Amino acid sequence: MSKLKGKVIVVTGGSGLIGKSILKNLLDNGAIAINAEINVEDNLEEGLIHCDVTNKVSVNKCINTIINKYKVIDGWVNNAYPRTADWGKKFEEIPLESWKKNVDLQLNSVFICTQELLLVMKAQQFGSIVNVSSIYGTVGPDFSVYDGTNMTMPAAYSAIKGGVVNFSRYLAAYYGPFGIRINCVSPGGIFDNQNELFVAQYEKKVPLRRMGLPDDISPAISFLLSDDAKYITGQNIMVDGGWTAI
Ligand SMILES: NC(=O)c1ccc[n+]([C@@H]2O[C@H](COP(=O)([O-])OP(=O)(O)OC[C@H]3O[C@@H](n4cnc5c(N)ncnc54)[C@H](O)[C@@H]3O)[C@@H](O)[C@H]2O)c1
Repeated sequence: MSKLKGKVIVVTGGSGLIGKSILKNLLDNGAIAINAEINVEDNLEEGLIHCDVTNKVSVNKCINTIINKYKVIDGWVNNAYPRTADWGKKFEEIPLESWKKNVDLQLNSVFICTQELLLVMKAQQFGSIVNVSSIYGTVGPDFSVYDGTNMTMPAAYSAIKGGVVNFSRYLAAYYGPFGIRINCVSPGGIFDNQNELFVAQYEKKVPLRRMGLPDDISPAISFLLSDDAKYITGQNIMVDGGWTAI
């Protein structure tokens, strides 16, 4: 397959669970895929660039380095998942500072990356951005899947991922006239060797009766980045085994 042949596409947080699959799918489709990650050193020949998405200076440097080498950025996936060490506390126990910090890390980083990047894309008059949200940016959690476990769904995630979805619509409206598309992909829960009871309860609820895998998510992202999606902008594709259909 080569629907992304030669396209320069950046994935933030590409060393993580879903990011690795996104990068592989991009490469399989012929893209020049670049992992913009806090945990790597610069090595653009190998598709690696150090980037802290929460830091405007770092993001600026990353974008400039890529432009210096490739002259264009065709696509960008906001996938990184910075979060505080206390992420995952029950609602009553979340310190205000923790809530604020996570909004800053996870939502404001999307603002930082897109503001810098869209200057480049506007000058090019083309580009496609995919923001990775979550089912919990659209629906409330079914807390029964956590029964009998010490897991929960962090409250700030709803505000952050809901914000990402509607911010994407704002950007789609603003940058549509410049030939730039901005969409979201919202994954359901991804299997990562979680607590067995949680997995069983999750799988019982989801219509396709299994948790998602990273490779379920990445083809939707490649599609939205490709010209096959050239008339799609401002949308949010749920890749969730039907979780949000019921
Ligand atoms: N895993 C799931 O079940 C699931 C479900 C729905 C949505 N999502 C979303 O998918 C995306 C990826 O999630 P994941 O499960 O692969 O997470 P992950 O924790 O496995 O990977 C996240 C990556 O982001 C990198 N990162 C963290 N802070 C960074 C920073 N400041 N700058 C650059 N990179 C940074 C990490 O080093 C890591 O490689 C996230 O946006 C997450 O909200 C995940």
